[in-house]
Amino acid sequence: MPVRSRTEIRKFDHLEIALREDVGFRSSNWLDEAHLIHRALPELDLEDVRLDLEFLGHRIRAPILIESMTGGTREASKLNVILARTAEKFGIPLGLGSQRAALESPNLARTFKVAREAAPSIPIFANMGIPQLRGEDGFEIASSVVEMVDADALCIHLNALQEAVQPEGEPEFSRGLEAIASIAKSLNVPVIAKETGCGISGDVAKSLEGAGVACIDIGGAGGTSWSAVECHRARRMGMRRRERIGLTFWDWGIPTGASLLEASNSTKLPLISSGGLRNGLDVAKSIALGASLGGFARKLLLAANAGPRRLEDVMETLLEELRIAMFLTGCKDIEELRRVPVVLSGRLLEWAKLRGIDPEKYSMRR
Ligand SMILES: Cc1cc2nc3c(=O)[nH]c(=O)nc-3n(C[C@H](O)[C@H](O)[C@H](O)COP(=O)(O)O)c2cc1C
Repeated sequence: MPVRSRTEIRKFDHLEIALREDVGFRSSNWLDEAHLIHRALPELDLEDVRLDLEFLGHRIRAPILIESMTGGTREASKLNVILARTAEKFGIPLGLGSQRAALESPNLARTFKVAREAAPSIPIFANMGIPQLRGEDGFEIASSVVEMVDADALCIHLNALQEAVQPEGEPEFSRGLEAIASIAKSLNVPVIAKETGCGISGDVAKSLEGAGVACIDIGGAGGTSWSAVECHRARRMGMRRRERIGLTFWDWGIPTGASLLEASNSTKLPLISSGGLRNGLDVAKSIALGASLGGFARKLLLAANAGPRRLEDVMETLLEELRIAMFLTGCKDIEELRRVPVVLSGRLLEWAKLRGIDPEKYSMRR
C-alpha cells in the first residue's frame, strides 16, 4: 500500500467525521422564515410541472446540484462513482471535492477522474481552494484541475473559517480576489465562487461579480459546520485549544436564507443556494428568493454511503417535493417559480430590513 500524504489523511478524516459525527449547525438555515403562498386554484395539473432549465449554458433536468465533497482518498473514489452515476441518471450537475490531494499525489487523480467516466454527459465542476490559487502558478493549477476531470466549470472554494480553525490550516486570503479575477479572465471554463457553510454577503457577491466569476454558490450557515468538523479532528488529535476554538465558531456564518437575500440583491449572477438545504421545499423557496439551483452536500453523502438505491430514493423524494411545491404555488416551470410571491417573517424579515432590502419586493409580486 502506498503511504498516504498529509492531505489524503486529512481528507479521509473529513469524510469519516462527516459520516459519523454530529457536525450540523445548531441553528437553522432560516428558510423556515420564507413562506410561499398556497394557491387553492393552481390552474394546472401536477404532471404538467417541468423542472428542467438552462444553467451555465447546459440544459439540466432539475435545479439541483450535488455539491463538491469527495475525492482524494481511495474511500472517496467509491462514493464519487455512486454520486456521479446518480447525477448522470437524473441529469443534474455534480461538484467534485478539492483536487489538491491529486496535485500532490498524482496517483490520486483517479479518485476524481472516475466521476467523469461514470457521468459523461452532465456538467461536472472541478474544485480548488483560494489559498492554493493565490501563487504565481495559480492559473496553471486551475487549468490542470479542470483538465484532470474534463470539467465544465471550476469551483473556487472560499473557506476562511475552516482554514482558521483547522490545526494545519492555511488562513492566507490576501489578494484572493485578484487571484480569482485573473483565473476567471483566462480560464476556458466559467468560474464559480463557493462558500462552504458561512455564506456570502452582498458586498462580497458584488466584488466577485466584478472579478468576473460566472456564478456564486452562497454556501450559507445552517447545515454542515466546518468549525464542527475541525473541532472533532482537534479533539481526536488532543489539541485542546483548537477544539475550544472550533466550539466557539461552530455556528458562525450568514444563514442561508439571509445570504440568499444579500447576494440576490447585490448581483445579477446566477446563484446556487446551499448550506443546510433539507428537502425540495427548501429548493423551491431558494429559487423564489433568487437562486438558480439548490445544492445538497452532506445529506446526499450520507445517502450515497448507504448505497446507490438509497441515494436514488432521496433524489426522487427531493424532486417530488419540489414538483409539489411548484404545483401548490401554481408554477408550471422554474421561470414561474422565480417570480412567485414570498413572505418573509421573523429573523429573516428583520435581517432584510436592517440590511436595506425591501421585503415587499418579494411579497407583493404578481
Ligand atoms: C465530507 C464533505 C467534504 C467536503 N469537501 C469540500 C471540498 O473539498 N470543496 C468544497 O468546495 N466544499 C466541500 N464541502 C462543502 C460542501 O460542498 C457544502 O458547501 C457544505 O457542506 C454545506 O452544504 P450542506 O449543509 O448541504 O452539507 C464538503 C462537505 C462535506 C460534507
